[in-house]
Amino acid sequence: MSTPDILSMLAKQLKPYRGELETMDRIPAKGRSRAEVLAILEDLQGREAGRWQRGYASGAVYHGGQEHAEFLAAAYKTQSQSNPLHPDIWPSAAKFEAEVVAMTARMLHGEGVAQHRRGDRVTGAVSTGGTESILLAMLAYRDWGREEKGIERPEIVVPVTVHAAFEKAGHYFGLDLVRVPVKDDFRVDPQAMRAAVTERTVCLVASAPSFPHGAIDPVAEISEIARELGIGCHVDGCLGGFLLPWAERLGYPVPAFDFRLPGVTSMSVDTHKYGYAAKGTSVVLYRNADLFHHQCYTAADWPGGLYASSTLLGSRPGGLIAAAWAALVATGEDGYLEAAQGILSAADRLKAGVREIEGLRILGDPLFVIAIGSDTLDVYQVMELMARSGWSLNGLHRPAAFHIALTRRHAQDGVVERFLEDLRAATAQVRANPAERSGMAPLYGMAAMAPAELVRGLLEAYIDVLYEV
Ligand SMILES: Cc1ncc(COP(=O)(O)O)c(C=O)c1O
Repeated sequence: MSTPDILSMLAKQLKPYRGELETMDRIPAKGRSRAEVLAILEDLQGREAGRWQRGYASGAVYHGGQEHAEFLAAAYKTQSQSNPLHPDIWPSAAKFEAEVVAMTARMLHGEGVAQHRRGDRVTGAVSTGGTESILLAMLAYRDWGREEKGIERPEIVVPVTVHAAFEKAGHYFGLDLVRVPVKDDFRVDPQAMRAAVTERTVCLVASAPSFPHGAIDPVAEISEIARELGIGCHVDGCLGGFLLPWAERLGYPVPAFDFRLPGVTSMSVDTHKYGYAAKGTSVVLYRNADLFHHQCYTAADWPGGLYASSTLLGSRPGGLIAAAWAALVATGEDGYLEAAQGILSAADRLKAGVREIEGLRILGDPLFVIAIGSDTLDVYQVMELMARSGWSLNGLHRPAAFHIALTRRHAQDGVVERFLEDLRAATAQVRANPAERSGMAPLYGMAAMAPAELVRGLLEAYIDVLYEV
C-alpha cells in the first residue's frame, strides 16, 4: 500500500462531510442566526451519536446516558463564564476544584498518609485530561530531582506499556525514559524496574491499569522499591482510578494501587473517564504539598502583576470543573458502585465469550480493558471486519492485538452479545480466508514492521489531513 493510497483512504474516513456540507474557511461576512448554527451542530450530533450510544466504541464515552449528559450540560451552563484564574470573581471555582481534588483523594485513601509521615496531606489540582495530569507530575519530578538532588538530566523508569503521555512528557521537558519490558502477563517485573534505576532516576511509574492490555502493574512492590531508594512513584490511574476502588469493594481481585501504599507519591486519575464527567478534566494528586509545589508556577516580578498558576494552562475552564464536581456529587458512591457492577459483569461475559472463539486469545488477565490477540490468525484483519460491522476498536502493537475498554455503553442489554456475534463471524471469515487483507489491516501490519521514520511521516501526514477543511 503506497503512502498516497493510505492518505486518500484516511481522508475518506476522516472527512465524510466534504462536498456535502458547507465548509467554513473564513468567518462569515454576516453572522448566521443562532438557530441556524445550532441546527448544524444538532444535525452532526444526530449523525454521529448513534454509534457510540449503542456501544460500538472502545472507551471514548464512559457514561453517555442522555439524562446524565443533559445534567452535565446544565451544570456547565451555570459556570460557562467562570475562570479559576480569577478566584476573586468566582470563589465558587476554587471551591469546586478543591472539592473535586478532596473527593478524589479520599476515594484513593489519601486520608491515611499522615500516618505514614507526619504532616503529609494529599493535595493536587484539576487538569484538562489524563495527558496534562501526567505531564504535570513528570514536570514536578523533574524539578524535584533538579532542585533537591541536583540531577541535571533526570530519568524516569517506566514499563514499556505506559501511556504515550509519559513519552510526550519526556519530549516536552527533557526527561529520559528508561523502558522496562513486561512479563507474559503484561505486568512489569519490579526487580527489572529496580535494576533500571540509576543515579539520575527521579521516579518509577506503574499503571493501574495499563492502556493497551488493562494490566495492573505490581504497584505495592514498585512503590516499596521507590520508597527504599528515596525516589518518587507515580501511579497512572487515568483509566482505572475511578473504577478500581469500586471493583475492589465489589470483591473483584484488585491489588493495592493507591495512597494506602506508603511509597506511592503521586497519581493521575481521570474524572472524564470512569468519573463520568464531561470531556476535559482529570485530577493529579501528590502525597504532600512540597511535591505539588514543583508543578506550580509563580511569577513575582512580572509587570502584569503577581501571578500564580497551578497547572499548564493560564485561564482555565471553570465550567468543566464545575461539571466534574456535579458528576461526582450526583453519582455518589452508590452510583459508582452500581455502574462498576454493570461494567464488570459485562466484561466477565465478554471475556467468557472470547475464550470460546477458536484462534483468539485474551492477553493477560484483565478486568475491564480486554486485549485480544491470536497465534494463528491476522488479528488486524479481524479488527478490520469488526470495523465494517461498526465497531471502533483500538489496534495495538507488540504483540499484534486490538482491545475494547468496556464502559457503561457496553453494560446495556444486548451489547456484549452483539459484539461476540460479530467477533465470531469476523474470526470465522479470517480463518476461512487467511490471506485476505483489507482496509486498515495492511496499514497496521506494516506499521509494526516499517522503520520508525516512515511511520512518523505517516502520522504527521495524518495530522495534516485532520486540519484540512
Ligand atoms: C492509562 C492511561 N493513561 C493516560 C491516558 C491519557 O488520557 P487522556 O487521553 O485523557 O489525555 C489514558 C487514555 O486513555 C490511559 O488509558
